[in-house]
Amino acid sequence: MVLCGAGLSASSGLPTFRGMGGHWRKYEVMELATFEAFKKNPVRVWQFYTYRRKEALNAKPNKAHYALAELARRKNCITVSQNVDGLSPRANHPDDKIFHIHGSLFTLRCESCDYAEPNLDDPVKPELAIPEDENAPLPDLSPEALPRCPSCEMLLRPGVVWFYEDPPQDDVKAVEDWMDLGRIDLFLVIGTSSSVDPAAKYSTMARDKGARVAVFNINRDDEPVGGMRKKDWFFKGDAAVLLPELLRSVVGEIDEDGAIVKPPSNPNNQ
Ligand code: OAD
Repeated sequence: MVLCGAGLSASSGLPTFRGMGGHWRKYEVMELATFEAFKKNPVRVWQFYTYRRKEALNAKPNKAHYALAELARRKNCITVSQNVDGLSPRANHPDDKIFHIHGSLFTLRCESCDYAEPNLDDPVKPELAIPEDENAPLPDLSPEALPRCPSCEMLLRPGVVWFYEDPPQDDVKAVEDWMDLGRIDLFLVIGTSSSVDPAAKYSTMARDKGARVAVFNINRDDEPVGGMRKKDWFFKGDAAVLLPELLRSVVGEIDEDGAIVKPPSNPNNQ
């Protein structure tokens, strides 16, 4: 089982939450990533998410995304991703083996009804384009410029899980059902501060199912909840470098574009 966070995409050039220093332009991220903020100033929130969508669209999956996708094809494993950047789907991670428990930047959903749609447009509406110069003021738009639900006419919002919101309950249940199926050999914790539930509690749940834990993180202090145990591994460094190396005997050698340039030497390696 794999748990990943923003550090998985750091080498693709996307800042982690902590890496953003809590700010975007002059705004606090915490004040742009809540439903309350959206109700108060939907234009500003949409401008922030227009920026994040553009950044993610300009980024490319790295070798770790590709290695995890190949691991999923070869092994009975699931990935729980806290990332909303769409890089794992773009690395062709099998859809039925990954749970995006914080949603996706590339889904739009209605603030009011059940309507949702995939959307890769950049920007979602031309008026939302934001000046590249970070010091330039953001255009003052009217909410009329924002995308609307074709079903009920209310505003569409980014399909991410905001602070104080619950993750999609179907996904949480599917993850827990999978964990209940039997023994778990290995739990990989990749590029996450393991700070928010439910992701934070999965390492303990996986240990209860027999898992040894392997952490991949640049920061030695970012241990999973409950700390490290005797038979765990901590691989300190860039996940995009370490992970393809560690998984090479099982997934093969992967190049920058995700092609397997050398087959695995030991595909049945447990
Ligand atoms: P964080 O920003 O909290 O943590 C990123 C982690 O990645 C840190 O532990 C870094 O040390 C590590 N890291 C950075 N670069 C790395 C690299 N190249 N290789 C390996 N590790 C690296 O991001 P998340 O843990 O993803 O939730 O945050 C979890 C959730 O907290 C987010 O999804 C978000 C936030 O609240 C919501 O928005 C609901």
